[in-house]
Amino acid sequence: MEALKAFDEFISDAMASIDKATTLDELEQVRITFLGQKNGRVRHLQTLVGGVPREEKPVVGKRFNEVRNQVTESLEKKLEKLSSSSKASEPEFDLTLPGVSPRIGGLHPVTQTISRFREIMGRFGFEVVEGPEIEDDRHNFEALNIPEDHPARDPLDNFYIAAARSCSGGPVLLRSQTSTVQIRTMENSKPPVRIVSLGRVYRPDTMDATHSCMFHQMEGLLVDEHVTMAQLKTLLNLFARSFLGPEVQIRFRPSFFPFTEPSVEVDVKWGDSWMEIGGAGMVDPNVFRAVGYDPHKVSGFAFGLGIERFCMKHFEVDDIRRFYENDLRFLKQFQYWLTLRLSNNRILTQGNTSTVDSERPADTTRIRCKTPLMHSTTNALRESVRQIQTVSRIQERYHCSLSGPLQNRHATFCPT
Ligand code: DAH
Repeated sequence: MEALKAFDEFISDAMASIDKATTLDELEQVRITFLGQKNGRVRHLQTLVGGVPREEKPVVGKRFNEVRNQVTESLEKKLEKLSSSSKASEPEFDLTLPGVSPRIGGLHPVTQTISRFREIMGRFGFEVVEGPEIEDDRHNFEALNIPEDHPARDPLDNFYIAAARSCSGGPVLLRSQTSTVQIRTMENSKPPVRIVSLGRVYRPDTMDATHSCMFHQMEGLLVDEHVTMAQLKTLLNLFARSFLGPEVQIRFRPSFFPFTEPSVEVDVKWGDSWMEIGGAGMVDPNVFRAVGYDPHKVSGFAFGLGIERFCMKHFEVDDIRRFYENDLRFLKQFQYWLTLRLSNNRILTQGNTSTVDSERPADTTRIRCKTPLMHSTTNALRESVRQIQTVSRIQERYHCSLSGPLQNRHATFCPT
């Protein structure tokens, strides 16, 4: 029978071609030749089936289907085989493509400022202590000589926590000042005292460019014998100069705080203008009495500074709200890197940058610094030493040497 013979030929040709195909393209050609809807050889077979006598149709038709299915199956099997082996031979990744640098976080500018404050005050011999953010009446007001009818206690000016009142037996609030920590420290230790406490305070102020319902303060307290206001002024002067640069001046304006007598507001002159940085004064004898200290034996000074104030001035940020919005476009500007220009393993220049990778010249290397290098505004000498130390560490690690102005600075400031 002609049709059955043609079927056999079809199947043996198809199988041989499938066998021979070594690529996906070749296999596709085989499929088109044999099973293609338009001109595939299967079309010819179909015509043959149409032409057989009626009584032979069931047998021939059945055989036709078997043949077509067999070829289709073989094609599919081969297709699977070729595509899995072609995948395996492809490289996993392209070694020649540039790498993706990992996104590394940075310290929040307020956190950076807090670290610097701690460090500066640490050098002046002040211990850093913590206090709770949820306070009672005694620590936020009473022991600080703030009487019951004082406007500072007004519920409209404080975040009282109504729900906590019933279990604590008295008013409870989010602390409105870090002066609370003065009391907590003196309650638990004997003079002399020399502490700073840095943390959040809360006031129901309407948010604007210079006000926030939460901000940070640094509280300072020094208690000893014969403490004077001159020492307070000297300390704040040194502090401001360490943070903002040697050119700043400080001024005291008479003021009033219940927990200090006399009291002052403190301003620093930076550039052309005076900026208020906080309050200070000599600890009021009533405060000493409230914690069991003898005001005839000891004296002391205290101060409370707004941290965001310094941070804004230092980083030239003009709206306090930016600090709390968690906008990465803003925060990324405060990641600090030491950029080194290396040539033949010698450091040619270095600078403090916050540029993104794509802006970096090809011959520079960036090394992440643990601490921001605030070289333009802070105490130039100390910063230089710090930068040199950082650079020395890098030298050791990368086996490169200093040259140019850095080497001179090294000689001047780090004789060892
Ligand atoms: N606690 C005051 C405030 O939040 C600031 C202050 C003023 C703190 C005078 C002090 C001080 O320690 O002596 O406005």
